[in-house]
Amino acid sequence: MTDAKATIYYTLEEIAKNNGKDTDRVWIIYKDIVYDVTDYLNDHPGGGELITEWAGKDCTKAFDDFGHSGDAKRDLKALKIGEVVEEERKKKQKKTEKEATKGPKVVESKEKVINRSCIHIITCGLCA
Ligand code: HEM
Repeated sequence: MTDAKATIYYTLEEIAKNNGKDTDRVWIIYKDIVYDVTDYLNDHPGGGELITEWAGKDCTKAFDDFGHSGDAKRDLKALKIGEVVEEERKKKQKKTEKEATKGPKVVESKEKVINRSCIHIITCGLCA
């Protein structure tokens, strides 16, 4: 038997509801992980408002832009309640966008290719 807790996955819609208004909880997303920071708001050295601004949303950039210490990251880790569902993760979206622009390189024109090999012959000097 294992005592490891199963991960709970939340959709962005579910997370957004926990904004301190629609429910009395304040959840935030940091790097695709969901944290319930309700009980931390009063302890935040920067004040609760800086966090509630991101209630129900992804605060990754704001959190990193401040350059929080390891202690801050440890505090945050203790508040983890789950993760964003795979399909709605930022990383996955970025990857998909990248993949969409990735593909076989298209040779723009035959002329361009010929030009390139001409340069090669000149600089190499061995191909007369
Ligand atoms: C959501 C966006 C957040 C923003 C914009 C933010 C911003 C800030 C700012 C401006 C300070 C400096 C306060 C001062 O020195 O007067 C600060 C400090 C701090 N914050 Fe946040 N914060 C955020 C979330 C969090 C969260 C979620 C945690 C932990 C659960 C956290 C933990 C800390 C800690 C421990 C400090 C003291 C300095 C340090 O150890 O880095 N913050 N934050």
